[in-house]
Amino acid sequence: MLETVRWLDGKVRILDQSRLPQTESYLEISAFPALIDSIKELKVRGAPALGIAGAYGVCLGLAEEQHRSIADFKLSATEAVTQLCATRPTAVNLGTGAKHVLKTVLESEGKSSDAFCKALKSADDFLEDDLSRCAAISKLGAPLMPSDGSVLTHCNTGGLATGGIGTALGVIIEAHKNNPRLHVYVDETRPLLQGARLTTWELARAGVKHTLITDSAAGHVMAAKKVKCVIVGADRIAANGDTANKVGTYGLAVLCEKHRIPFYVAAPFTTVDLGTSCGEEIIIEERSMSELSDRFSTSPVPIGTEVYNPAFDVTPASLITAIITERGISKGPTFNFA
Ligand code: MRU
Repeated sequence: MLETVRWLDGKVRILDQSRLPQTESYLEISAFPALIDSIKELKVRGAPALGIAGAYGVCLGLAEEQHRSIADFKLSATEAVTQLCATRPTAVNLGTGAKHVLKTVLESEGKSSDAFCKALKSADDFLEDDLSRCAAISKLGAPLMPSDGSVLTHCNTGGLATGGIGTALGVIIEAHKNNPRLHVYVDETRPLLQGARLTTWELARAGVKHTLITDSAAGHVMAAKKVKCVIVGADRIAANGDTANKVGTYGLAVLCEKHRIPFYVAAPFTTVDLGTSCGEEIIIEERSMSELSDRFSTSPVPIGTEVYNPAFDVTPASLITAIITERGISKGPTFNFA
């Protein structure tokens, strides 16, 4: 099992995903601003893993505050949560993890140092729970995978993106245990190549056969009847089932409808945001234009080209065949999580 994020000797230890697949190296982060930067730079990424980073992030922000009064300690915790939530606004789990720890802190009385121990314990619990959530999702979703043929996935939703086996990729890896012939088409996932760099790496480690395609080849492979279903993760699921996930997901769902291919979303219930009624309310993170224009030593883009770089898009619930959470499989085309 990958140790994507954990607390170690007073630091947050993360597997630096920005260096994969070339280098498997860990960062031991001892300062809150450095953790904020590592989240912004996608050194730790994927909604559930961000939730865990958020939970430990609050602890990191409080580590130096233990000498303060409990009232000031609580104020610092609230401030840490606000800063963490602002780093990546679409991934609801980041706030869920951070607020999980905040709740523990706000309920604490007595010495700040005792409140800190409780905060750390609640972050550890959040990580453990994510591990169990992933295992449940994977087992529930596995029977939906084809017994023969290929499944297509987008972005990275495996152990790197979670505290456990993964969500959508966890389903695939679990299904592969009973069906070693299962094959996966992996979308490259422009512009940061989470599919090409990370999902291929994880599938190779798990011994699952896979083929990398460009995002724009998905329609072609579906038209050629090479894909039996598509399964993706989620960054935020609205109460009506509208789902924000890595940009490109919506296009895949439209293609699935056209080609009558099931389109599945797998996510822990921590990704369901009951405070958001529909997809239009979801804030879409916009990332730097340099992710498109300055990615190579020689820029492939004429200087001054305007760039729009949304990190996510929203798939309407009506295009989703089923949403798999640890609580069960909800079948579409309408959902009501509220
Ligand atoms: O920008 P990223 O790499 O954090 O985006 C990740 C995704 O879009 C994943 O599909 C989602 O967070 C689910 S991870 C289990």
